[in-house]
Amino acid sequence: MDMRVQSAMRTKRTEIQQVGGLVDIPMLKRYHQLEALDRILNSVNRVRDLDTILDTAMDNIMAVIEGSCGAILLGDKEPGVLYHRVYRGLSAKRLDEIRIPLGEGVTGMVAKTGEPILIEEVSRDPRALPQELGGVKGLRGFICAPIKRWDDIMGAIVVASDQTGKFDAEDVRILNSFGDCLATAVIKTVVERKISKGMARYQALLSYALGAQEDERKRLARELHDETSQALTSLTFRLQAAIQMAEISGFGDAKFKDSLQKAHASAIQAGKEIVRLMNDLRPTLLDDLGMPTAIYRYAKDTLEPRGINVTMECIGRQYRLPIEVEVAFFRVAQGLISNVSKHSRAKNVSIRVECNPSKALLYIEDDGIGFDIDKITDIEPGGRGAGLFTMRERLRLVGGTGHVESKPGQGTRVTVTVPIVRNLEDLADDQDKGLDRR
Ligand SMILES: Nc1ncnc2c1ncn2[C@@H]1O[C@H](COP(=O)(O)OP(=O)(O)O)[C@@H](O)[C@H]1O
Ligand SMILES: [Mg+2]
Repeated sequence: MDMRVQSAMRTKRTEIQQVGGLVDIPMLKRYHQLEALDRILNSVNRVRDLDTILDTAMDNIMAVIEGSCGAILLGDKEPGVLYHRVYRGLSAKRLDEIRIPLGEGVTGMVAKTGEPILIEEVSRDPRALPQELGGVKGLRGFICAPIKRWDDIMGAIVVASDQTGKFDAEDVRILNSFGDCLATAVIKTVVERKISKGMARYQALLSYALGAQEDERKRLARELHDETSQALTSLTFRLQAAIQMAEISGFGDAKFKDSLQKAHASAIQAGKEIVRLMNDLRPTLLDDLGMPTAIYRYAKDTLEPRGINVTMECIGRQYRLPIEVEVAFFRVAQGLISNVSKHSRAKNVSIRVECNPSKALLYIEDDGIGFDIDKITDIEPGGRGAGLFTMRERLRLVGGTGHVESKPGQGTRVTVTVPIVRNLEDLADDQDKGLDRR
């Protein structure tokens, strides 16, 4: 038992006894029980770590219910079995291997029914399993209460004594209250564990989906480049040649020549569309010249045809970031530029990309109509909000952050920061070679 708990209780007991010796024993016991309950509640509310809470609880339980040993059993590891999570007066060597099936033995029964049990002489009770409380010999008095909240039973608390009939209904009542109190802490931990598991699964899935989407875009862009674009170029040349031949040989009437001209113009237009599509999917500039140039080209191609003037500043162009960071950064910039193009009605956009050895920064400001960012809290059924949400999640995957600042009538400013985390071996390598690059 925690020495501080023991000594605090001894002091309190002496204080109360000193008040004229008038305080009777049951009242003193009740006082200590309430004090222990208060301490456990306090730790449930203030402490995050479940083991610390259970340790505090176990010390306080042993201090007010005077048994020779005790344990808190939980059922959160495998379904249908309880294990000893914390214990006092028992040997770890034996307890760590012991599992109590739900519904079996006294503890298992309490954890199944949710009803506490008081036993005068456990060694003679047919319900008790030999392995209960590590099979300690000579145990007699035994109480067990569930750790439960509503219909959820998460475990049980056991206290045993080497004296027969050591415990009474009052002890069962207080042990039950301890159990109720601990249930909140156990539920909180179980829920937190589920949330963080779910979050990890979501992030892994998202990362996989984004990676697969990137691969597919790359494949499509390559196919467009190698097949469709080549075929269109060849078609355009052939049409051009046919037009020249018709001119030279005087073959065909004006209607025929006009049709050839139109077919040639359509082929050129389709070629431009293919280039635009390829740039949307995976601009070759991103691989060849790096992310800032790719962003600038994308912004110009997207915004200038809509009459939006683009200015761009780029600092630290010589730094190449890890490719997954460049791709994430480019995709976020693409989403932001497309938002400016679709929603802002801006006249001017200024873009700044800054790269240094520790981070990459993107700043995009437009002088358009702006919007109320507080109203974009969810993805609407039509998909509005999905763009900003995806950008935020994409950034989170590479450890980055984004901040949008906008108000109706006051334009929009977005700042994106992505830290460049590199492993220490790479850094050491670069330092050895005197390099300042990524
Ligand atoms: N630069 C901007 N200027 C004005 N409004 C914007 C701008 N960027 C975003 N918005 C507003 O925020 C909304 C959500 O953007 P987003 O999540 O990208 O979804 P989507 O573009 O599909 O509508 C847009 O519908 C638009 O109303
Ligand atoms: Mg959008």
